[in-house]
Parts: sequence; C-alpha cells; structure tokens
Amino acid sequence: MELTLEAFKSLIKDRCGFTFRNDSSYTLEVSLQKRMSDLKAASNEIYLQMLRNDQEEMDRLIELITINETYFLREPRHFKLLVDTVMPEMLDRKRGSEKVRILSAGCSTGEEAYSILLALTEKYGMGIRNRVSIIGVDIDRNAIRMAQEGIFGNKSFRSDDALLKKYVVHAKDKRFELVPYLKEGVEFQVFNLLTHPYPDFLKNIDIIFYRNVSIYFAGEVQKLIFQRLSEILNPEGFLFLSSAETYFHNIGILFLKEYGDVFVYKKKVEMEFDDRRKYHPASKTIPPISTPPFAPRVKSAIPTPVAAVQPSAKYVEKRARQDVRELFDEALACAMRKEYAPVIEKVDALLEKDPAFIKAYSLKASVLINRQELDAAREMCRRIMALDEWNLEGYLLLGIIAKVEDKMDEALAKFKGALYIRSSCWLAHFYLADIYFAQGDHSGAYGEYGVAVRLLEKHGMEDHGLTYFPLSFPVDQLIHLCRHNMDKLRRMAGKAVHSA
Ligand SMILES: C[S@@+](CC[C@H](N)C(=O)[O-])C[C@H]1O[C@@H](n2cnc3c(N)ncnc32)[C@H](O)[C@@H]1O
Repeated sequence: MELTLEAFKSLIKDRCGFTFRNDSSYTLEVSLQKRMSDLKAASNEIYLQMLRNDQEEMDRLIELITINETYFLREPRHFKLLVDTVMPEMLDRKRGSEKVRILSAGCSTGEEAYSILLALTEKYGMGIRNRVSIIGVDIDRNAIRMAQEGIFGNKSFRSDDALLKKYVVHAKDKRFELVPYLKEGVEFQVFNLLTHPYPDFLKNIDIIFYRNVSIYFAGEVQKLIFQRLSEILNPEGFLFLSSAETYFHNIGILFLKEYGDVFVYKKKVEMEFDDRRKYHPASKTIPPISTPPFAPRVKSAIPTPVAAVQPSAKYVEKRARQDVRELFDEALACAMRKEYAPVIEKVDALLEKDPAFIKAYSLKASVLINRQELDAAREMCRRIMALDEWNLEGYLLLGIIAKVEDKMDEALAKFKGALYIRSSCWLAHFYLADIYFAQGDHSGAYGEYGVAVRLLEKHGMEDHGLTYFPLSFPVDQLIHLCRHNMDKLRRMAGKAVHSA
C-alpha cells in the first residue's frame, strides 16, 4: 500500500508538480479513496493505470487535491506597489493601443485576478480596463469555473469590506456577485504551469502574480516553473511572489528588487557581470587568504630532498581558515560569558585575516548593540550587506538598532525584510508584534504574537537567526509572555466593543 501511495505521489508530481509531505498525504489518501469508490475501481493498481491514461480522470483528482485558499486583496502591499509604482512604469512603456498584459498564475477561484483590476480601477478610474489585459490561469477546472462565475461567499472577503462592497451585488444565501465591469475585464483559462512550451496567449506578459502556488511544489519544480514564467515575462517586467516564497526564488533567474518593505522580481535585459554576482550571494567566495610566496616550481636536475617539500597552497589556506574559525569560536565563547572587550579584540584580529567572514561582523554588531554603540553596530551591518545584500542577520540587526533608536517605521521595514528572507524567523515575528502593539495596531500585534508562539512551540527558540543573541529566559516563559500579551489584546478588543 505504501509503495502504491508513493507511485501515486510520483505520478502527480510529474504531471502537476505537487509534492505531498507526510502531513499532507492524508488529503491525497482521502481523495484517492473517494475517486476509487465512485469508480468502483477494483484495486490501487487499476486506478493508477487509469490516471496514467485518462486525462479526464486526472483532472477530477486534481480538483480534489488542490489547495485553493485565496481571498480578495490578499497581501495589500502588493496591490499598492502595483498601482503606485509598477503600473506607471508599464503604462509608460506602451505605445498606442498596446495593453499592459497581466497574468495571475495559479489564480484559484479568481479573487487575485479580480483584485488586480479592482485596485487599478480605484487608482486610475474605469478607463484603465481598456489599457490592460488580465488573464487568470489555474490547473483546477472547478476553480476556473467558479472564477468565471464571479460569485463569492464571505470567506473571499477578508479585507477592506467598504472598498469591496462597491464592486459586488448581493446574490443570495450570503453570496455576492461581482459587477459586470469586473467580470468582463478578466479572462480565465484552465492551464497547467508545467506545460511546455507555453501557448501564445501566455506570452509577452508584463506583470505576473504567482503567489502562494510554488509552496506546494518540490524544489526542482519550483525552479522549472519560475524559469518558464521568467521566459514569458517581457524585458523589465515584474513578478510578484508571496512574502513567504520570495527569498527562495532568489536563484539568479530574475532580479530581486526592494521597494520599502516590499520585494518583487524584475526581468532585466542587460546583466552586467558584477550585477549578476550581486544577486548570487551564495556564489560569493571568501577571498583567498594571502599565502606565503613559495618558490616557483622549476624543473631541476637535482631531485629536491623530501624534507624541503613545501606545504601545498591548499593546505596553507585550509590551516589559515582553521585559525580564523578558532578565533571566531573563542570570540563567541567570550560573548556567551558576556566578556565583551575580548570579543571585539578577537573579531578585529579575525577580520584582518579574513575580511569576508560575515558572522564575525554579526557577532561584533550584536555586542556593540549590547554596549549601546549603535553607530558602530550599524557600520558592521553596512559591511554585512555589502557582502550579502539579502543577509538575514543584517536585516534583523538593523531592525533591532532602529527599534532601540525608536525609529519604528524603519524597524518595521527591516523585520518585514527579514521575513522575506526567512518567513519562519520567530524573532522577527516577535519584534513585529511588539512594534504593532506599541503603535496601536492591535490586530497586527495579535497575529504576529500568534505566529511567534506557533514557531516557538514547533521549533524552540534556538533558531532565532542571529549568531549571538543572549536570552535570559527559557522558551516557556517567552511563549507565556506572547500569550499574556495576546490575552491583553483580546481584553482590549472586548472593551472597545462594549464601549462602542
Ligand atoms: C493557494 S492557491 C493561490 C491562489 C492565489 N494565487 C492567491 O495567492 O491567493 C494555489 C493555486 O495554485 C494552483 N496550482 C497548483 N499547481 C498548479 C499548476 N501546476 N498549474 C496551475 N495552477 C496550479 C492550485 O490549483 C490552486 O488553485
């Protein structure tokens, strides 16, 4: 049975890209059982064979296993960037009656594609519909049928109700139908993003929304589809991913651009060698540590005595790296004992030998923050970012510095940036919660504390993302603190309702 389930998983991965981790296999098992019982399939093998040969049956199964979670104006920051920054640039590039072509890839039941038109209309007026062409595609036929129908339940409306109300009419049974203006302005098609090559109607796209789709794919499929989407993107075109997906697509195919606290990919035509390297932090190599000038190897009639053989350059480099590593470990041990002066001395000595040792800068910055030497700490961060502009520690440390300096907007931007790089960083969620709380954004604070609690419960507190982060209380207390604040926020919300 196990073997057969693996065979189903492998077939589905080949055809649609989905990967099922152990915790999501249940959905697959239930769906398989349902289809097999509907069809009265005699055995797993027979149904597997049927799936291999019958696309219609494969489509039916896909309808059961896809995760269609979506709602209007999800991640509002993306729509703001679209209307304020991306769209003006795109409109500028178009001549005459040429339209800006926008694709919602993995559009599910259509809320994302409709939100694009809605946001553009709010900013530019109804005439914008003649200047854009918006297409939504999804592998799930049922989802596409619902998108075309344009009738949605309460679950689809979770943000900015007042705005959305302008664009819907009440249907029945707590369901809402979009006004014809929106329905007629978006086209939907069933399409598997793994298809190769892409058809003409999906070529020359200016803006792609590909959000919350890649999380269900295996690593190699993620890369393949990202590559294919980048190919249909026009030069200078933009591609949006959800914040949780953004960083792991920074693999040198498209350029990651930062606009305040929002990150988006851009297709550049001309790629200078230096620029390309800048977007490949992983490809950065530690500059060679200067090696002693060995005598050049020259052929000699006299054999070199064994004792005179020089150590190889590789050996010397390895030894030097070990020295640097030992220095770092000693510095870290001093930091753990809160002996900060020797940390700085050791890190400085280390950086003289190896100026590209990023963790040494992070350690020094943390210690400097502890000593309230914020300008010097910021300088360390500047050096980190020069070596690796998408460094998680760089973002976290700059966030902490800004928070200590009471520059809350800057701190927010840095912690959000950290979450683009690693969405599971509990420390960034925790700091965001604290800042939202202080700023009176109670629902934001509540949500972030909730995420921090879930992450702390699941993974503990060790993986905070920093090289050195002295914490004087255990994980239980930290969780307790978050919960305590959540209770407080709940009580405050209750009071607000009563006094209203
Ligand atoms: C969670 S929804 C995301 C909807 C929307 N983009 C959003 O962010 O709200 C993911 C959608 O991706 C679709 N999908 C998954 N694999 C696909 C594939 N290979 N080709 C096209 N769509 C796919 C699923 O059917 C599902 O509707």
